[in-house]
Amino acid sequence: MYTAEVPRGPKGHFIVGSLPEISRDVLTFFTESARKYGDIFRFSFGPFPAIMINHPDLIAEVLVTQQPNFVKSSVYRRGLRFLGNGLLNSEGQFWQRQRRLVQPAFHLERIAAYADVMVSYTNELLEQWQNGEVRDLYQDMMSLTEKIVSKTLFGFDIRNEVSGVQRALDAVMDFNNQLSNQYLLPSWVPTPSNLRYERATQQLNVIVYKIINERRESGKDIGDLLSLLLRVRDEDNGTGMTDRQVRDEVITLLSAGHETTANAMTWTWFLLSQHPQVQAKLHSELKTVLSKRTPTFADIRSLSYTEKVVMEAMRLYPPVWGISRVSLQDCVLGGYNIKAGTTVFISQWVMHRDSRFFENPNVFDPDRWANNFQKKLPTFAYFPFGGGSRICIGKSFAMMEAILLLATIARSWSLTLQPDHPVVLQPSLTLRPKYGLKMQLIKI
Ligand code: HEM
Repeated sequence: MYTAEVPRGPKGHFIVGSLPEISRDVLTFFTESARKYGDIFRFSFGPFPAIMINHPDLIAEVLVTQQPNFVKSSVYRRGLRFLGNGLLNSEGQFWQRQRRLVQPAFHLERIAAYADVMVSYTNELLEQWQNGEVRDLYQDMMSLTEKIVSKTLFGFDIRNEVSGVQRALDAVMDFNNQLSNQYLLPSWVPTPSNLRYERATQQLNVIVYKIINERRESGKDIGDLLSLLLRVRDEDNGTGMTDRQVRDEVITLLSAGHETTANAMTWTWFLLSQHPQVQAKLHSELKTVLSKRTPTFADIRSLSYTEKVVMEAMRLYPPVWGISRVSLQDCVLGGYNIKAGTTVFISQWVMHRDSRFFENPNVFDPDRWANNFQKKLPTFAYFPFGGGSRICIGKSFAMMEAILLLATIARSWSLTLQPDHPVVLQPSLTLRPKYGLKMQLIKI
C-alpha cells in the first residue's frame, strides 16, 4: 500500500529551504524534526529535495533491500572529490571490483599484525606526556591515528612525507567544515577556499604518486596495505590497479582511516572524564587483564568492558554522524512515493539517541551493552560503521585500534577535562570537537 502524498516536514525558506537552520545547528535540526515529524520527513536542502528517515526498517530499505536504487549523493561526494574514485566515492561494478581487491587487506589475520604498531606508537606518544600537563587530546589522537594508518600503509621511511600528506589532508578537510563550500557554490568558481582545496589536492597527488612510484620500482612487498594494493589481482581477469586507482584508494584509506578513529577516541576521553565511576571500572578491568604490561592483540577478547566503553562512546558521539544517498529511480519508502533524484539522509546521531531503542538514551552507560544487548537491537538502531554492502571496510581495524589505544593509555593515565575548556560539537563530515579537547594528564 502506498500513497502519492509526500511526507510532512519543516517548511523551509524560499530557494534555500532549511539550509539556514541546518548551517546553524544541523544535529538539533535533524533531531527535533525527527521527533516532530516521525520516521520519515521531507525538507529542502538548499536547492535539493530531500527526505530524512528515522527508523531502522526504513534505513535497512535504503542500505540493504533497495540498495541498488540508492547511490552516494553528490552532496556527499563534492567535499570528498579529492578522494577521486576511491572506495568511499565509487559506485557500481567499478566499486564492486575495487572492494573485492582491497578487502584482503582488512582480513583479520592481516590486521592482527598491526596491533603491535598501534600499541608501540601509542607508547611513543605516552613517553612525551608529563604528569600534570595540559594537552589537546584531539590533536594527540589525530596525529597518533594518522601515524598508525600511515605506518600500516607506507612503512617507516617516508614519515616526513606523510606529515605533508597530513597538512594537505587538513586543508581539504577544513574546506568541508563550511557547509556553504560544500553545497552552495560550484567547485569551479575560483573562490579562495576552492583554490586552496585544489592546491592541497595537487600537493597530495605529488606526495602519494612519489610513494607509489618508489614502491613499484623497489618491487618490495613489506607486508603493508600499499604492498597489497600494488600486488592484488582481480580473480576474474588477473588485472591489478593502475597508479591512479592506487592513489585514489590510498588517499581514501588514509583520510577515512584516521580522522574517524581519532574522533571516536577523543569523545571517549571526554565521556570518561565526565563519568568517574566508568573510568574506575575501566581501570579495574585493565589492571586485572594487563597488570603492568601493555596490551597485545590476544588481550582484546578479554577487554570486554573496554570494548563496551568504545561502543557506548560511538553511540553518543558517532564519528560519522550522518550519511546520505540519492535515489536513481522513483521508489516507495515508508509508504510514500519518492521521486528519482531525491536525497535521503540517515543520521547515526539521531538514531543512536532514540528512546524507542535505548533506555535513557542520553546517558553514558557502557553496561547497557552487556548480555548481548546489540543482538537484541534492530541492525540499524546502532550503526556507527554504516551497513549493507557499503559498510565500513575498516570496521575491525578501527575497533581493534580503539580498544588497544584506550587500554594502552588508560592503564596508566587518567584524563581530566580542563575546567573552562569549551566542548563544542562540529558536525563536519565527521563529528569533531570544534576547539579541540584540552585535558590534564594524571599519571596513575
Ligand atoms: C571509528 C572509526 C570509523 C568509523 C566510525 C567509520 C565509519 C564509516 C561509515 C559510517 C562508513 C559508511 C559510509 C556510507 O555508507 O556512506 C564508512 C565507510 C568506509 N570506511 Fe570507515 N569508519 C571508521 C574507520 C575506518 C578505517 C580505520 C578505515 C580504513 C583504514 C576506514 C575506511 C573506510 C572506507 C574505505 C569506507 C568506504 C567503504 C565502501 O563504500 O566500500 N574507516 N566508514
